[in-house]
Parts: sequence; C-alpha cells; structure tokens
Amino acid sequence: MPLPAIASKTSSEFAADVRAGMTLRGQKELPSKYLYDEVGSALFEVICHLPEYGLTRADERLLRRHSDEIVDRVEGPVAVAELGSGSGKKTRWILEALSRRQRTLYYPIEISRSALRMCERELGDIDSVSIVGFEREYLDGLREIALSREPGQHLLVLFLGSTIGNFDRPCGVKFLASVREVLMLGDCLLLGTDLEKPAAQLLRAYDDQLGVTAAFNLNLLARINRELEANFDLAQFAHVAKMNYWARSIEMHLQSKRRQKVSIPAAGISIEFREGETIWTESSHKYSREEVCRMATGAGFHCESQWIDDDWPFAENLLIAE
Ligand SMILES: C[S@@+](CC[C@H](N)C(=O)[O-])C[C@H]1O[C@@H](n2cnc3c(N)ncnc32)[C@H](O)[C@@H]1O
Repeated sequence: MPLPAIASKTSSEFAADVRAGMTLRGQKELPSKYLYDEVGSALFEVICHLPEYGLTRADERLLRRHSDEIVDRVEGPVAVAELGSGSGKKTRWILEALSRRQRTLYYPIEISRSALRMCERELGDIDSVSIVGFEREYLDGLREIALSREPGQHLLVLFLGSTIGNFDRPCGVKFLASVREVLMLGDCLLLGTDLEKPAAQLLRAYDDQLGVTAAFNLNLLARINRELEANFDLAQFAHVAKMNYWARSIEMHLQSKRRQKVSIPAAGISIEFREGETIWTESSHKYSREEVCRMATGAGFHCESQWIDDDWPFAENLLIAE
C-alpha cells in the first residue's frame, strides 16, 4: 500500500528531525518546513492578508504588472514548475500570460498536501493550463519534472514569496546552485526576494497584532503534540520575533515561559526548558538588490531583469541558466 508507506516515512523523518533539533547542545531548533501542515498552511494564507505583512501584496503587484514582460523574456515552448507554491494565487498572473501564447503544463511542488490541494483548486480554471501537482521536497520534485520534459521544452521555475530567505545566505546560494544543476541552458528561475527595510516594520510583519503569526508558530508545537504524542502546554510558550542584525534576518522563536519538562514519546525524548529559553523555528533573510544578482551569478545564473516594488521594497528577479 504505497500511501501508508509514504506517510510512515514522513512521520519518522519528522520524529528524527524533532529529536535532532531539540537535543542540540545550545540553541534548540526546528526546521521551518514543518510549520506547514494543514493548519499551518491555512494560517499562512491568513498572514498573507494581514495589513502588517506587505510582502505578499508586493510580490503580487509585481507579478500583476510585469507578467507579460516576464514571460516574453522566456523562450518557448515552456513548462512551469513552482517550488513551494502554497495556494498559488499569485501564480495566476504568470499562467494567464503564458496561456495567451501556448498550452501550458504547470507543476506545483509542495510538501504540504493541503497547500497543494488549495493550489489545484485555485488555478484549475485557467484555459490552456494543465496542473500536475507533486507532493515532494523542492529538489526531488524538480528533478522528476526535469526528467519528464519534452525535447526542446524550456522550464520556467518559480520560487516566489521570498521563501529563499528561509535559508541562511550560504545555504541559499547552494540551493540556487542545486536548482541550476537540474536545469538546462536557457531555462529560467523567477525568484522573489524581500529587500532590507527598517527593523520596526519587519517586527510588525512577523508579530502581528491579531496574533495570527503567533498561532502559525505555536501550531508547530501543536503539530508535535498531534503527530508525535507530545505534551507541550501551548499556554506555556510565547511567539517571539527578533531581528538578527548580523545575519540581516528576522527570526521566529517559541519561548518557554517557565522552567518545564516536555516529553515527545514518538521521538523517544524528554526535554527540559529553562525559563526564557527558546526554540528557533524560522529565519527570513532580507537582501539588497545587488546582492541577489551576486547570489544568482555565484549559482550559475545570469540576472536578466529585476522589478522592484516601491511601496514594500521587494524584488522579482528573472534569472537565466547559463
Ligand atoms: C513561505 S510559504 C510561500 C508560499 C507561496 N510560494 C507564496 O509566495 O505565498 C512556503 C511554502 O513552501 C512549502 N515548503 C516549505 N519547505 C518545503 C520543501 N522543503 N519542499 C517543498 N515545499 C516546501 C510550504 O509548505 C509553503 O507552502
């Protein structure tokens, strides 16, 4: 039975990653990809609508204004693959622009099954676009897609929403280089990157007044309770957003409000927390526009064009594999 086999592999990987991150000697950590289960993906959609979180609106404005120009610069015929599509709402602009010139295969790649379903529902009505979803890690999905491409077909890979910022800078370049390795000469990567902005604006964006980002972050502990039979008391942890000025990133943490012990039976561990100790759950690195081009060059791409949003500094970067 293939599905249960995949599910149990996924949950044992989750248990192993939780065990590894929670038993680190210094700062406890959890990989940010685990924020996106069904509840987390739904909460992320709400975050995208919050007045404090201008990032998604900036990304969407740029795609709405420049999609025709973007697709004109990509040599056709072309298939589109998207890394971490989420609901895919913003992708509509690219797919509609392409569908005016050709029939298009669109491959969203997602680890969150519920996000993938949202995306298929969201974009399923576009004429001349066929959607084939991949419930996979980014590079596993992209490799499969690249293997099945037709002769002469180019790939346009989308990595929107500044999700690249979840990698630290060296890992970000390494990740781009791994994407480049899968691509052929002339294939394109459309990369959304959030640009540097004042700390106060970022702190508001990652710690909104309604507490949606807090719920998104705390849901990771609730997920560990649900899937790994843990006994985190959510009321005893607080969401904290903090600037890391050295790394030029904003970090999300979950801070223990008191000294406490938590057991996670399915990961085979019990862990102690000091009062004030944190679990680091996500980083979002911010960039300068020049830096994005340097990162792209270092990874084997040519930075063909950049479009910048004036209201919320954000860059859409069209990178061509060379
Ligand atoms: C920050 S959200 C961005 C969603 C969307 N691209 C946007 O711009 O709004 C990141 C998305 O990537 C997915 N994701 C995170 N890590 C992943 C991985 N390693 N492989 C595949 N998808 C991943 C998450 O499930 C989530 O939907």
